[in-house]
Amino acid sequence: MLVALFAGDGIGPEIMAEARRVLDALGLDGLTYEEGLVGGAAYKAKGHPLPPETLDIARRADAILFGAVGDYDCDALERHLRPEQAILGLRKELTLFSNLRPAKVFPQLADASALKQEVASAIDLLIVRELNGDVYFGEKGIRTTADGLREGYDIMSYNEAEVRRIAHSAFRAAQVRRKKLCSVDKANVLETSQLWRDVVTEVAADYPDVELSHMYVDNAAMQLVRNPGQFDVIVTGNLFGDILSDQASMCVGSIGMLASASLDANGKGLYEPIHGSAPDIAGQGKANPLATILSAAMMLRYSLGRPEAADRIEAAVAKALESGARSPDLGGAMTTREMGDAVLAVL
Ligand code: NAD
Ligand code: IPM
Ligand code: MN
Repeated sequence: MLVALFAGDGIGPEIMAEARRVLDALGLDGLTYEEGLVGGAAYKAKGHPLPPETLDIARRADAILFGAVGDYDCDALERHLRPEQAILGLRKELTLFSNLRPAKVFPQLADASALKQEVASAIDLLIVRELNGDVYFGEKGIRTTADGLREGYDIMSYNEAEVRRIAHSAFRAAQVRRKKLCSVDKANVLETSQLWRDVVTEVAADYPDVELSHMYVDNAAMQLVRNPGQFDVIVTGNLFGDILSDQASMCVGSIGMLASASLDANGKGLYEPIHGSAPDIAGQGKANPLATILSAAMMLRYSLGRPEAADRIEAAVAKALESGARSPDLGGAMTTREMGDAVLAVL
């Protein structure tokens, strides 16, 4: 099986190097790797954040492990040339519509959460974020009004097929968990959300074993801090899911801990930490590689058919944390490489 490795910008190469060492240490047969340029690094070398040769590797690969993209040097470029278009383009081109972002407290890290320990320790939730639609992909631009004012606009829309397919993903995920699904929207204000709510409710008829509830996104943000243990699976749109998952990461302990899978309808996937390229700490060995290492575990489980290898990685991460491995985001002083070493030592 072919695994594409796209390290990207900022801390991307640092965290990817540790994930690669962990994959190599597993000694798995039958995996080959191909590296590709994405993001600002690809723009600087090839003039485009997602060059055709990278997209070709992605199409041929059975799974993609992605670091992060984003480079402030590129923020003045036209939007279609900015680094972020690499990840948005891969999600869209490969129809990776279902983004699974699990947030679970490692008991060893209960003290790292921004929440009180008794609140944090109950967290075991999965955010299912739609990735191919919403305000992200609608018509957008900056125009001039009749009064001569500059006006920015981004059209938010979802059609019923897009909502239905992510709803099925989320209900299926809930069926193999605690069978509770909370759909998060803003139906009190947005027509897009009203349709979302109507369609999710229709799909619920196919899953009588799953208990469906609905929540407005502002309340959901509050409930994630007040009582996150109430959530099993959350399904939501692209923008709300982006925001709520960063928030959930701090409830768990650090943005450096949250992994993700972005899946198409056939199980092909892109795997990445939920965080970005962290330009503020890039090149300093301060990045926590565990989110990327845990993303590699998700890749082995969901796309490569190696659940036992995924279990080994997850157990090694837990043991490394137990033995005191802490990068600065977790309140320690270990470098990116030392965090990787701690996982390798267990493996
Ligand atoms: P960010 O996630 O890169 O960083 C936010 C904060 O979290 C920073 O203080 C950073 O140092 C810290 N952080 C992030 N990952 C960490 C890790 N592994 N270990 C320790 N600390 C970590 O978000 P941002 O600062 O808003 O964005 C920076 C760039 O990344 C932007 O260009 C943005 O567009 C891009 N971005 C890319 C992705 C992606 O590639 N999927 C995701 C989010 C942001
Ligand atoms: C993420 C990021 C991306 C998003 C950006 C970089 C386009 O924030 O993967 O969470 O908004 O989806
Ligand atoms: Mn994000």
